[in-house]
Amino acid sequence: MRNVVAPQGARFTPFDPPGVHLGDLFVLPEHQSSGAGRALLAELLRGAGPKVTFASSDPRAIALYVRHGLRPWTPLLYLTGPTSALPTPPVRRTRPENITALDIRASGGARHATLAWYSALPGVTFYATDRGYDAVRQTGHDLVIGPAGGAGPQDCVDAVLGALATAQARIARIAVPGMHPLVSALLGAGWHIADMDTLMADDAGLALIHPDRYVPHPDLG
Ligand SMILES: CC(C)(COP(=O)(O)OP(=O)(O)OC[C@H]1O[C@@H](n2cnc3c(N)ncnc32)[C@H](O)[C@@H]1OP(=O)(O)O)[C@@H](O)C(=O)NCCC(=O)NCCS
Repeated sequence: MRNVVAPQGARFTPFDPPGVHLGDLFVLPEHQSSGAGRALLAELLRGAGPKVTFASSDPRAIALYVRHGLRPWTPLLYLTGPTSALPTPPVRRTRPENITALDIRASGGARHATLAWYSALPGVTFYATDRGYDAVRQTGHDLVIGPAGGAGPQDCVDAVLGALATAQARIARIAVPGMHPLVSALLGAGWHIADMDTLMADDAGLALIHPDRYVPHPDLG
């Protein structure tokens, strides 16, 4: 059995009790459908705080999460496309501590330690506007967008597009909730849907996240 729950993916809200973002859950193929996933989730999701995850299309995953009180909320589209030929709103480089308040409002989680850890990784840069922020990570020709957020949906769009405009890489990847205005902006610019998950949360989690103005990091949430 192999379970992957990235410690960096754990997200603690400013609320009591603390919440959790479940990063990933995998069971080796030869052990699937024998109760291992259910047992792992019973342990991982037993706390009382808000719970959020990105479920694959595996019906067993969605069923297990629903049985733990989470609901399928919106598709999470993994988009990839060129960094050029998009609007270029201005952004400035910033440090994670400067965007903590905006991140809490957009993502629902207070996770300064996680953002500080991420900002120290090679190739990671944080950008901000007056009302939005975006982290990007460049490794070789690959650019990963997120987390990003804004006071409103367009503020998040501006932060992401501004960060894309600074990119050295030609191609970028981003995980966007289906109701976010970036979906039509990027698909309209010729980006492709590489994969799709389902953003799932329990009622407390639903009350915290703003998927129309938040772009999660694919792994950190
Ligand atoms: C998804 C995964 C983690 C589940 O773990 P698992 O050990 O195989 O699952 P379990 O045997 O504990 O439970 C499967 C549940 O799905 C239910 N199930 C199976 N097919 C179903 C279907 N089509 N519709 C609804 N429920 C279904 C089973 O009845 C069982 O529920 P129950 O225990 O309440 O009866 C595992 O199958 C896996 O690694 N899949 C591939 C990777 C993946 O997609 N991971 C999810 C990432 S979010």
